[in-house]
Amino acid sequence: MTIMKRTHMCGELRSENIGEEVSLNGWIAKRRNLGGLIFCDVRDKTGITQVVFNDTIPTELFERADRLRSEYVVGVRGKVVERESKNPDLPTGDIEIIADDLVIYSEAETPPIYIKDDDNVDDNLRLKYRYLDLRKKKMQDNLAFRAKLTNVTRDYFAEQGFTEVETPMLIKSTPEGARDYLVPSRVNQGRFYALPQSPQTFKQLLMVGGTDRYVQIVKCFRDEDLRADRQPEFTQIDLEMSFVDVDDVIEVQEGFMKRVFKEMKGIDIETPFPRMSWQEAMERYGSDKPDTRFGFELVDLTDLVKGCEFKVFNDAIESGGSVRGICIDGGAAEYTRKKIDKLTEAVKSYGARGMVWIKVTEEGISSSVNKFFSPEELQALADRFGAKAGDLILIISDKDRVVFDSLGFLRRHIAGELGLLDDEKINFLWVVDFPLFEYDEKEDRWSAMHHPFTSPKEEDAELLKTDPHSCHANAYDIVLNGVELGGGSIRIHDRQMQEDMFKALEMTQEEIDEKFGFLVEAFRYGTPPHGGLAYGLDRLIMLLTGEKSIREVIAFPKNQAAQCMVSEAPGIVDPAQLEELGLAITACNAEEDDE
Ligand code: AMO
Repeated sequence: MTIMKRTHMCGELRSENIGEEVSLNGWIAKRRNLGGLIFCDVRDKTGITQVVFNDTIPTELFERADRLRSEYVVGVRGKVVERESKNPDLPTGDIEIIADDLVIYSEAETPPIYIKDDDNVDDNLRLKYRYLDLRKKKMQDNLAFRAKLTNVTRDYFAEQGFTEVETPMLIKSTPEGARDYLVPSRVNQGRFYALPQSPQTFKQLLMVGGTDRYVQIVKCFRDEDLRADRQPEFTQIDLEMSFVDVDDVIEVQEGFMKRVFKEMKGIDIETPFPRMSWQEAMERYGSDKPDTRFGFELVDLTDLVKGCEFKVFNDAIESGGSVRGICIDGGAAEYTRKKIDKLTEAVKSYGARGMVWIKVTEEGISSSVNKFFSPEELQALADRFGAKAGDLILIISDKDRVVFDSLGFLRRHIAGELGLLDDEKINFLWVVDFPLFEYDEKEDRWSAMHHPFTSPKEEDAELLKTDPHSCHANAYDIVLNGVELGGGSIRIHDRQMQEDMFKALEMTQEEIDEKFGFLVEAFRYGTPPHGGLAYGLDRLIMLLTGEKSIREVIAFPKNQAAQCMVSEAPGIVDPAQLEELGLAITACNAEEDDE
């Protein structure tokens, strides 16, 4: 088939092109036959142009144009003319093309989804027909944005002396707190590779290997519950640097963010970014990734209510917990009993058993605990928040973890409901001084808060042997408008300290040797002090493009059930293939779907 070579893209023509003979390639976005006139919109990734077939063209050509339907793929040639009824909403809206030739490259059946940016179609249908979804201008713009951002990233880090290195995909597990995706080995039957949750151990080995500054735009795999900002396979901008301290790593990152915002958005951002300790972030915002664009900060009431008549508060305090709340300015009228009940229901998923509310009005104070507190006591509580008439106070009492998680959720949720999430604001924050360990209640054991290669703060180094769980970490997370964009740390580079760390995690010597023997051994042969960080690239693009989910910035994402709707992965494999791998299926819950 001869291709009608295009002279322009479909979003390019303007009134300056009037009088030119041009040709376009693309898809038919819309077609109307008004008797002797056929109007078509021809679309490609850059936009659409209106093309007119009139009855001055040969009958055979007019008939061909009359066959056109939505999503036919065509080449059209013609003359650019001024449009009679201009369309100010369209960049090409001042012109149209009077066609004098048409090639139909491919016909199309009626597509199962509309090719329209704001079409409100079911997500799974969009993902099944992703190749149609990708025809939308917004989706193509997002892919182009992504490509430009990765170019900016490579340029910046190359200028800073980083070397891009590819690390292996078939590896032993690198622990980042999620489950591994396993790949069975045929030549080593009964053994499995893990797909990397991150290149953590390999980037550290690159430092031992003298690479000095490493960067990689790399796929990572984590078998975990999915959310709007989580995918089972996602991309990191991963980096590591030798001979650095926390400030050195942070300085390079702030330079990177400055460059990204300038080149991608034309915005000059201020550096350095504020830093806040993990403890302060939890106490003020109930979150280790606080959104600082709005207030509603947490207030501690524990000392004020200690010994009060309300048993729920007292029980929480006596078992080591706390009583804290937030004050929603002007929220008393907006939050009716019904809405408050909904909030109470919502905090249950964070472990809260209930929620106390206090409304301050011109007439006085009302609350859900009137029976237990005198008006003076309620006033004292309201005063602690500096509450004024019209404000709503919400209080949670429980273990600190539950209190923080619940109030952290409430402040974000309510700010969203009240329209306080200002998209124009760019609030970066470094959260630092994390605890080195956290207690995992489900597993009933201590685990590393970041990963077990994170070093304790210098002043806590000795505690690693004696009282490890009170150590603070040389770790930092970069947070933008309440989203954790990235995280990293200065690593342990001393073999003994690394072994102490594993032991604090209650790993036996055998487990250490089996899982991380290679890393500990590498530390025997001269290891530079080193540290680094990894960004979630998909999250960064989501925030920069203003999308609500990372699925919008990934070409072929997985659905909520971790399935690829296009190729229908994961699939059933041939019994012969299983046999070769020495595997047998003993349980299967996917049959119904696959049949
Ligand atoms: P961490 O586990 O914090 O650190 O991951 C770094 C960043 O990757 C992004 N991210 C994800 N994005 C989408 N879907 C997911 N499932 C997902 N999981 C994580 C987040 C996160 O901040 N090796 C360390 C980094 C280091 O210490 O240098 C690591 O992977 O934006």
